[in-house]
Amino acid sequence: MTGQTDTLDIIRQYHEISKHRPDKYADGPDALDWDLQPDPFRVYEGSDKIRLPLSARTLEYSLSDLITPGQIESRLFSSDTLGQLLETSLALSAWKTFGSDRWSLRCNPSSGNLHPTEAYLVCDNIDEIHNGVYHYHSYEHSLESRCTLPENRQILPDNCLVIGLSSIHWRESWKYGIRAYRYCQLDIGHAIAAVRYAAALQGWHVHVLDHASDDQISRLLGVDRMDDFLESEAETADILLLVSRHDDFDIATLDLEWLATIAHSSPWHGMANILSPQGRIDWPAIEKVSKACTRPVSEFTRIPPATGRYIEYADKHLNASQIIRQRRSAQAFDGQSMLSPEHFIHMLASLVPEIQSMPFDCGNETAHIHLVFYIHRVQDLPAGLYVLPRNATGIDMLKGHFRDEFEWQKPELCPEELPFYRLVKANCRNAARSVSCHQDIASDGAFAVSMLAEFDSVLKDTPWKYRDLYHEAGMVGQVLYIEAEAAGIRGTGIGCFFDDSIHEILGLQDHTLQCLYNFTVGTPVMDTRLVSLPPYSHLQDRKA
Ligand SMILES: Cc1cc2nc3c(=O)[nH]c(=O)nc-3n(C[C@H](O)[C@H](O)[C@H](O)COP(=O)(O)O)c2cc1C
Repeated sequence: MTGQTDTLDIIRQYHEISKHRPDKYADGPDALDWDLQPDPFRVYEGSDKIRLPLSARTLEYSLSDLITPGQIESRLFSSDTLGQLLETSLALSAWKTFGSDRWSLRCNPSSGNLHPTEAYLVCDNIDEIHNGVYHYHSYEHSLESRCTLPENRQILPDNCLVIGLSSIHWRESWKYGIRAYRYCQLDIGHAIAAVRYAAALQGWHVHVLDHASDDQISRLLGVDRMDDFLESEAETADILLLVSRHDDFDIATLDLEWLATIAHSSPWHGMANILSPQGRIDWPAIEKVSKACTRPVSEFTRIPPATGRYIEYADKHLNASQIIRQRRSAQAFDGQSMLSPEHFIHMLASLVPEIQSMPFDCGNETAHIHLVFYIHRVQDLPAGLYVLPRNATGIDMLKGHFRDEFEWQKPELCPEELPFYRLVKANCRNAARSVSCHQDIASDGAFAVSMLAEFDSVLKDTPWKYRDLYHEAGMVGQVLYIEAEAAGIRGTGIGCFFDDSIHEILGLQDHTLQCLYNFTVGTPVMDTRLVSLPPYSHLQDRKA
């Protein structure tokens, strides 16, 4: 049996071998076999489908409404509101064409647009929808019935439903090899935040059920039913999210073991489609780390979310549904536009859970990710390296590990309550580009970010929380994407970076802090050769 120390060793080893270094990228395929590219759409053949309405464009709430608790009245669960929940979180957001190539984008981003994340809905007692477990089919914006749960009994607490997320690692490893496991986890983080924002648009709450074991999640979502999948294309359980209409019930009363057992013994339907032809490349390191990160059953504990002070958006009327659905990654930035201090301060505030709890209020822990900023073009802020500690003890911890010569100066434009400090004035455009695998997007925008996780302290007793650290980083990324859209500019996640080069800049010498994700924000340069089409024009009978 693998003990906790062995498990931690496996995870640390994976983390090391999946690092990109300037002289050696983490192992990946020698060349891309395009014929093997996995289908980004999972379908359960033979299952009944419920087609969801497309009506998110009718949602009139503003982004300010979204981040202010109690501002949006809780709506009833129905096929209409569930359709909107999914349409504003995990649905298609556009099609792009370039010559004869055509590809879809979604509200949630994904490394390489490969979309390893699959989503399931568990619900009871909703008009027009039988009690059951459903797979969300984003191409059709429909629910595929996977499991019929008993009609005559209450399955979930009143006014609650569950969204389950899983990953198909092969979808990412096909292109990115060994580093793919990290990207799958970051994508889950983006998806969690996307669901949180979308639920807020309905006046609903979200709780990450991180006390659910992977075994319980697998049985509930049916991803343990190996006969329903081609072995190499099975899904790995990731996380359950409880979506509730009210925030006043005791999560501990939700019996996850009972729920998983009921689902497991109920009738299941459909066979997973085959995603790519035979001949896939195995990455045993991914299977090994995935196994080492298996989440056991644990006690539900929750640190109450901060109440927040909610700094207003410069434009109070920005339509939240529109901003969420127009989120895109920039492919290039203009290398000259300056970001206004007002927009920048709002972005900073939205990243500190103590100030703006949305979307971090769905988690159960204090923040474990701190942010280093490479400031290139923010008005009234000298270019340089800055830091935003995201929890109360972060500043002391970071000071203890960063270079002694750093300044720790609070910039004048920064409100007192924002824990934002300058480390050094410098032009760090070259540094940001170099550490981001030489990608120009890291130097041509207003700023770039490196996300540092409290690594050793979190993994020591709970090694499986390696995944949770990436989830938090992905959530931070999603906030930056939304904030960039709100500021009229654009963001891009950067999964390709040289880990230890970043650690070296900061003077980090051990694994107390490790960089898990980079990000960049700026004024995009649009590629006019690309044609954009509406997300659901292929569904003639439903309004897109
Ligand atoms: C975890 C993650 C890592 C990413 N890494 C990079 C990157 O290194 N370079 C890049 O140009 N884009 C990167 N992206 C952006 C994706 O390529 C982009 O999300 C995807 O193509 C889908 O496009 P969309 O975001 O416009 O929907 C990353 C996105 C995510 C979520």
